[in-house]
Amino acid sequence: MKAALSSIVPEQQQQDSEFLKDVLEGLGGKIKTLPCKYLYDELGSRLFEDICEVEDYYLTRTEADIFSKNLKDIAFTIGPEALMIEPGAGNCEKVEALLAVLESPKGYYPIDISSEILFQAERRIKRNLPGMQVWSQVGDFTQPDVWDKLARISSRKRVVFFPGSTIGNFELDKAEQLLELFAANLGVGDGLLIGTDLVKDSVRLERAYHDSEHVTEKFNKNILNRINAELGADFDHTLFAHRSFYHQLRQRVEMHLVCLKNHSVSVAGSQVDFLEGETIHTENSHKYSINGFSKLLSKGGFAPICHWKDSAKSYAIHYAQVV
Ligand code: TRP
Repeated sequence: MKAALSSIVPEQQQQDSEFLKDVLEGLGGKIKTLPCKYLYDELGSRLFEDICEVEDYYLTRTEADIFSKNLKDIAFTIGPEALMIEPGAGNCEKVEALLAVLESPKGYYPIDISSEILFQAERRIKRNLPGMQVWSQVGDFTQPDVWDKLARISSRKRVVFFPGSTIGNFELDKAEQLLELFAANLGVGDGLLIGTDLVKDSVRLERAYHDSEHVTEKFNKNILNRINAELGADFDHTLFAHRSFYHQLRQRVEMHLVCLKNHSVSVAGSQVDFLEGETIHTENSHKYSINGFSKLLSKGGFAPICHWKDSAKSYAIHYAQVV
């Protein structure tokens, strides 16, 4: 039945109905949530790029700094003839400098849901690094199918590259499952190069996710505009406030949209009631200590080998191997 349906329902409609199902499910519970993947439509992705430039958001800058200061050491740790695999590669900008200094790299295997951004990046990489082999995969990296083609590429060593503290956006059990998925697509001795934001004082953390230029606020609220535009809802974003706070016990920054007064919203004909003070939980960003992340790596099937930090110990890039 499902196969028959999917052959007659256009892809866009299928995506819309999944979006609608997720939104109604998320807003229908006692605690309201929205899946963070819907933050990233075209405007959301652009706003996210703006976040990375914001003064208060230190993560992107700090990670880039660690990379540029330790590039040779990182390349040496990875070793020769590596096939670099990047889940959620986006514009593939972070990997380029590394590909340029690796010893005889086998090539690059980026995975991303946006085909346009990916193929544009593939062209740029091939132009900047002549001879580099690139196998772009369009799809959701949490799904096994985008990893399948790896089996056809012979390489001495595979290394998953996962920067940006993206692992922090997964709940702990999901983060472990994701590491397991990575390990399942690698062999013993293959590598993982992964960035994590480190536990630090809550003021600095909270400022990073509630910046004075209000870019993160726009990014968070964009999900409401998107639901309005794509699912025929009537959210008034001025009735919600952006709230980010560091949850000490869970070691994560949580992002919420707080309802400012009692009201109802219509979403594709369904009524959703909001009470003043009630929140929609939209995103988490987990922070790790080096020790805490080493434990997670072990649970996910990796042995931590080494890590690089900035001088203020704000952020870390870890290298681990499949055991
Ligand atoms: N992974 C990064 C982080 O946790 C980027 C990110 C994901 C982000 N979602 C976000 C940044 C929402 C700000 C707001 O920081």
